[in-house]
Amino acid sequence: SSRVRTRDLRAAKERGEKWAMLTSYDQYTAAMFDEIGIPALLIGDSAANNVYGYETTLPITPEELLPLVGAVVRSTSRTLVVADLPFGSYEAGPEQALATAVRFMKAGAHAVKLEGGRRMTGQIAALTGAGIPVMAHIGFTPQSEHTIGGYRVQGRAETGDDIVADAHAVTEAGAFAVVLEMVMADVAARITKELDIPTIGIGAGAETDAQVLVWQDMAGMRRGKAPRFVKRYADVATVIEDAAKKFAEEVRDGEFPGPEHGFH
Ligand code: KIV
Ligand code: NA
Repeated sequence: SSRVRTRDLRAAKERGEKWAMLTSYDQYTAAMFDEIGIPALLIGDSAANNVYGYETTLPITPEELLPLVGAVVRSTSRTLVVADLPFGSYEAGPEQALATAVRFMKAGAHAVKLEGGRRMTGQIAALTGAGIPVMAHIGFTPQSEHTIGGYRVQGRAETGDDIVADAHAVTEAGAFAVVLEMVMADVAARITKELDIPTIGIGAGAETDAQVLVWQDMAGMRRGKAPRFVKRYADVATVIEDAAKKFAEEVRDGEFPGPEHGFH
């Protein structure tokens, strides 16, 4: 079967069908999510936290993210593959954004995502004008954590109108979809109704057209206190930890390897 296209996601919105997006940064999860029919996968700059062990998304570079894009693309045949543009690789202007986005498209991505609303319309228009589909990302934007002043919900009281304005601005600039992160549910619902393009929520309530989670959060690969918007559907961390414990134990006890694991 053929790849999901941006127009398919828009058609799903028109039919009122909700869908799920997940992050993926490697061969095995990409193949699994593709196989079960997740229509869009994101090589998020959250690979900074979830692959490379950084504290925030700020340090990750295109050089670190690009190889993961290749891995996900090579391991999928149906899902639409979206790659995040890292912090520092597109803010300077449309030319910088285009140069970076081209690298991600050459690595095999089918679309790119960037953070920012009204301030990013020049970049979004340049990319879409060059044939590169753009997923926008507004509300709480982790790359601007130090301006925003930490992880906090966006759109309380009168600032709701700012996010609505951002949503319309990215749509008019040509974005094919928009991520709403940590946006008050009523504001996200209003944006979802007003826009023709799909909204993808994370901590934005139940009314968005789609939902996205980081796969390590969704599957319980990551330990520790999760943000409020995360639901853990499995405890993969414990499964792997138990397997590793058992392996180490059997090695210590001389139980592994058995005769069947060797060449005699
Ligand atoms: O990098 C990421 O994982 C993201 C999603 C949470 C939307 O941007
Ligand atoms: Na991101």
